[in-house]
Amino acid sequence: MNNDIKEILVTPEQILETNKKLGAQLSKDYEGKNPLFVCILRGAAMFMMDLIKNVDVSLEYDFMDVSSYGGENTVSTGEVKIIKDLDTSIKGRDVVIVEDIIDTGITLDSLLDLLNARQANSIKIVSFLDKPDRRVKSIKVDYTGIQIPDEFVVGYGMDYDEKYRNLPYVGILKPEVYNTK
Ligand code: IMP
Ligand code: MG
Repeated sequence: MNNDIKEILVTPEQILETNKKLGAQLSKDYEGKNPLFVCILRGAAMFMMDLIKNVDVSLEYDFMDVSSYGGENTVSTGEVKIIKDLDTSIKGRDVVIVEDIIDTGITLDSLLDLLNARQANSIKIVSFLDKPDRRVKSIKVDYTGIQIPDEFVVGYGMDYDEKYRNLPYVGILKPEVYNTK
């Protein structure tokens, strides 16, 4: 698996640091509240589980699965499907959407449209990575871990064709891996 990686962009140590930094900010901003963390499956699962261990407030979490990418496709199609909705009502809640990476912004833009209609008290976004170069929809990302260049990355929850999610770092996939499929 490691042989398919061209370069490591975010090391396990940097991941730890980033989660501490984001967790400290969120602990401060949500002090005395009971936020609902919404994990966008599947990519953000690993990030959320690490992040919330650094958030020192009473919170709840739930999962939502949306898709904008086809299995082998590394370019967003602009279509977002809800595959699994929340089990929790967000009415009156302070919602924190947890994403792995924001690329074009299309996924979050349509997700926000949908959640905004559900009368939450507040909706904020935390994303582990941000690829600002490819943004198509302007999105206010309230908490960003690390900005990265326009490269297709895998690991720490992020996949190519459902693989590489278990890498303990974020790496750039060798282009030949997805060009020769
Ligand atoms: P967007 O709609 O273009 O912002 O895409 C966001 C979603 O696409 C993320 O939640 C990821 O699941 C996926 N994605 C975007 N860039 C990458 C990448 O470099 N590697 C793996 N998944 C990515
Ligand atoms: Mg995702």
